[in-house]
Amino acid sequence: MSKVLVITSSPRSEAVSTYLAAEFANMLKTDDIEFLDVSQIDFPIYDEKLLQKFENLNSLSTQESEFYDDIMNQFIEADRLVFAFPNWNLICPPSIVSFMLCACRTGVTFKYSETGESIGLLEGKKALIILSCGGKYVENETFFGVSWLRGALALNGITDVSEVVADLIEVRRDEQEEIKQEALEKLEEIAKTFLD
Ligand SMILES: Cc1cc2nc3c(=O)[nH]c(=O)nc-3n(C[C@H](O)[C@H](O)[C@H](O)COP(=O)(O)O)c2cc1C
Repeated sequence: MSKVLVITSSPRSEAVSTYLAAEFANMLKTDDIEFLDVSQIDFPIYDEKLLQKFENLNSLSTQESEFYDDIMNQFIEADRLVFAFPNWNLICPPSIVSFMLCACRTGVTFKYSETGESIGLLEGKKALIILSCGGKYVENETFFGVSWLRGALALNGITDVSEVVADLIEVRRDEQEEIKQEALEKLEEIAKTFLD
């Protein structure tokens, strides 16, 4: 049985990325699924005080420890991860970055080799990235959000990563249903084997 974590991040109530993620969740036909809307999480600012606490994890308050551990544990315990986000100025909403900052931990999700290369410690996981764009998405060219997330996942050993893009959402407003439908068809294909 594969545990699925669906992470959505658009603050918009009519968000395309959230809609596609919810539809994909239905396609999986599993009850072992959790949803996390990171746009609703009040992530801390990474100021000097907090970074000093990270140097000595014991100095975190119980509440702070629980916050970081909860996010990291959700990340670790999921066998399948779905990240849904809009293109915001060529990256993703900061809440996705904040989620990953909390989820990744040296010695738990990755470690360094003696020569400094990172070694991912999470095995057997798959991820799916669902991206919505107002304009045209040009693969691997300018959109750093997807390539950054792929890198951040690989850091932890997650390299089986698919992506589905619904682009031209703002440029072709009158064709939104067709754009969504096209993305749904790609998601249907991925859903067939996502839990394998
Ligand atoms: C702050 C902000 C920045 C954006 N930057 C881009 C961009 O650089 N390129 C682009 O194609 N669309 C951009 N958009 C448009 C969104 O990607 C587009 O509306 C997307 O479909 C919204 O996804 P959602 O419905 O899941 O929230 C931006 C939107 C916002 C709010």
